[in-house]
Amino acid sequence: MKIGIIGAGNIGGNLTRRFTAAGHDVSVANSRGPETLRDLAGETGATPVTVAEAARGADVVVVTVPMKAVPGLPGDLLDDAPEGVIVIDTGNYYPQQRDGRIAAIEEGMPESRWTELQLGHPVVKVFNGTYAHELLDKPRPKGDPERIALPVAGDDDAAKKVVRDLLDGIGFDSVDTGGLDESWRQQPGTPVYGLAADADTVRKALAEASPERTAEWRA
Ligand SMILES: NC(=O)c1ccc[n+]([C@@H]2O[C@H](COP(=O)([O-])OP(=O)(O)OC[C@H]3O[C@@H](n4cnc5c(N)ncnc54)[C@H](OP(=O)(O)O)[C@@H]3O)[C@@H](O)[C@H]2O)c1
Repeated sequence: MKIGIIGAGNIGGNLTRRFTAAGHDVSVANSRGPETLRDLAGETGATPVTVAEAARGADVVVVTVPMKAVPGLPGDLLDDAPEGVIVIDTGNYYPQQRDGRIAAIEEGMPESRWTELQLGHPVVKVFNGTYAHELLDKPRPKGDPERIALPVAGDDDAAKKVVRDLLDGIGFDSVDTGGLDESWRQQPGTPVYGLAADADTVRKALAEASPERTAEWRA
């Protein structure tokens, strides 16, 4: 698959490692330009590109930048992507440490619904509750009792199926959280956030979540 990754930090860098290792054709961009991605490209075989180029011809685009940076991404970001491109959002709203106040989220909008509105394209929320190092440490072959499952939320079942197959290919099971309106079940402060457990445990944690944001995760 052709995958464009926007953001090459903790998560974007490790997704570049996992997806290239699984044989995908990966392009990766950051805010400072492709010349600053030479080491990651040399290590993984990914192609360093500008943000404007990242989605070109991509089957899947991963947006993995701090949420406060999402509104500043180019408005035509996805114009060169094929129709039906799947956009993955890994984002978490960290109002106190990083992102500042985002009124719509404070008023109850699920984080990824807000990101979707900024991007003008549906998103699939995944990887948001997984520590970056777990992307390298936790992958296991299918059927391994230690294999962990990641929650996946989104409104497009076909897109979610592609994403869940992608996860399977890099060593993770997955659990369908439901549509994006249910994606609060995997946001920061919920039982599944940071859990790293098997599918049954993840399902139970999603069911036990409360839509109320805790004080720690409010502005
Ligand atoms: N860290 C984790 O364990 C973890 C786990 C799950 C989810 N998340 C979430 O995933 C997202 C990314 O987290 P992270 O820890 O990977 O962040 P990070 O290490 O701070 O990396 C952010 C990346 O985004 C790039 N970036 C920032 N603004 C940009 C812009 N306008 N255009 C293009 N690229 C831009 C940065 O580019 P430069 O390198 O050029 O500055 C950097 O490569 C966040 O929403 C975070 O909450 C993080």
